[in-house]
Amino acid sequence: MALVTIPVESLLEKRRPRSDTQAREWCAQLEAGEILFFPRTPIEFAVGDLEFLLGQQQTDSSLHKNIAYKPGQDALSGVDTKSAEAAAVMRLQLIMRWYSAAVEGFLSGFLTPYARRWKLDYASFRPQEEEGRDLALRKRNDLLHTDAFPTRPTHGARILRFFNNIHPTRTRDWVVGDPFATVVKEFAPEQIRPAPDNALSRAAKGLGRAVGLGAAIPSIKRSPYDDFMMRFHNFLKENARFQAECAKYPWQFPAGSSWMVYTDTVPHAVLAGQYALEQTLLVEPEALVAPETSPLKVLEGIAGRALV
Ligand SMILES: [Fe+2]
Repeated sequence: MALVTIPVESLLEKRRPRSDTQAREWCAQLEAGEILFFPRTPIEFAVGDLEFLLGQQQTDSSLHKNIAYKPGQDALSGVDTKSAEAAAVMRLQLIMRWYSAAVEGFLSGFLTPYARRWKLDYASFRPQEEEGRDLALRKRNDLLHTDAFPTRPTHGARILRFFNNIHPTRTRDWVVGDPFATVVKEFAPEQIRPAPDNALSRAAKGLGRAVGLGAAIPSIKRSPYDDFMMRFHNFLKENARFQAECAKYPWQFPAGSSWMVYTDTVPHAVLAGQYALEQTLLVEPEALVAPETSPLKVLEGIAGRALV
């Protein structure tokens, strides 16, 4: 597992435009399960906005945990609007709207081979201390896992996440594992792998979609690929042997840094840290520069059939 360090100074050199070769290499490194690390974030925050975010405390009576911003709807969720002041909620929404656009703008010029062939998914603000959080097992962040979203199947699109550690002094402490292709072959048992094609279940799902049950029953909206990725997420968190025996690589991301990684490929856990921002993009399978390394193609190779 490698960390590819990119000095922000090299990104700001406008006189020497980066070559397509370099941009393709960054995409290929990400797709292969490496982390691109920016010791100094390329996202330029206004000082007042940072101070506002760092002023949000973890209490039940104000802006609180797992605050998500949905760019498509320009809406915040996870904010306790009953007790938080309306002006603070409004300011947080403005900051998240700006952050979401700033990250997408940066990535548009940085990962040029993708040519914006992605869906801008949620952004999040994580003001809570990660160490010692009391969460249900499947929601725990400190257990190694690959990402899958229970209510937002991707149908093969890749989950690319861009992070900012905005804490003024502390590192954000991660552990990552070997990429998907290695882990799935080493740890996924037969019973959780994609089931053989079944004409009856396909017909039932097709009928369900036709009568509009997809919104009510999330599993119907999921492809066999999404079903597997969700099972795999749960399996990894619940599997003591995997948690104990898998390869582990610790990384500490300093205050003021950024990093990005395909979190559907790279098992990851966050052990400690407070105050982070994150933006998720769902990259279309057709945009990938090395699709053969994607979880979808790896799984289809194992299953011997198409999974979306
Ligand atoms: Fe995750």
